[in-house]
Amino acid sequence: MEELKISLFEKGDIDSLVKIEEECFSYPFKAKDFEGLYESDISNVLIAKKGEDVVGYVSFTVILDECQIINFATQSLYRRQGIGKEIMNALFSHCKEKGVTKYFLEVRVSNAPAIALYKSFGFYEVGVSKGHFRAPLEDALLMNLEL
Ligand SMILES: CC(C)(COP(=O)(O)OP(=O)(O)OC[C@H]1O[C@@H](n2cnc3c(N)ncnc32)[C@H](O)[C@@H]1OP(=O)(O)O)[C@@H](O)C(=O)NCCC(=O)NCCS
Repeated sequence: MEELKISLFEKGDIDSLVKIEEECFSYPFKAKDFEGLYESDISNVLIAKKGEDVVGYVSFTVILDECQIINFATQSLYRRQGIGKEIMNALFSHCKEKGVTKYFLEVRVSNAPAIALYKSFGFYEVGVSKGHFRAPLEDALLMNLEL
């Protein structure tokens, strides 16, 4: 089995990231959105690769000691193989070096797989944002973690 390698993204990874976004989300990030993250001083993307294939990623913003998770996905073919867990662990290592101690995210209330994963890392529910997501319209669960 090919080894999983996790690193910060390069411009050459953007096409693969857009494909995963289109597979996973009703309002997918476009190439220009990832280009914006690439140019940003505060946002970035950690990608997981098997060989040359990008199989998952997390995009995020760090401001002072806080990290906001923007998006997180594993290609559907590769789910339930522990890749999401490895990506989250890489995020925590990356952010720890930057002095991050608090993490925030919003997740669709119906997204049981993601909520289970976040809870397994200690994220807890702090509230609900009514009508946060579109297509379909849905509330967001707000989750926090302090490490
Ligand atoms: C959420 C997501 C990133 C998980 O990725 P993954 O690589 O499959 O995750 P892992 O294999 O590392 O699973 C880690 C844990 O998450 C939980 N989990 C993952 N998928 C699950 C599912 N379908 N049902 C229940 N729990 C699940 C389990 O606790 C799992 O641990 P286990 O396999 O030991 O039981 C993936 O399902 C995905 O890309 N979903 C679509 C995009 C999305 O919804 N992103 C989140 C936006 S907030």
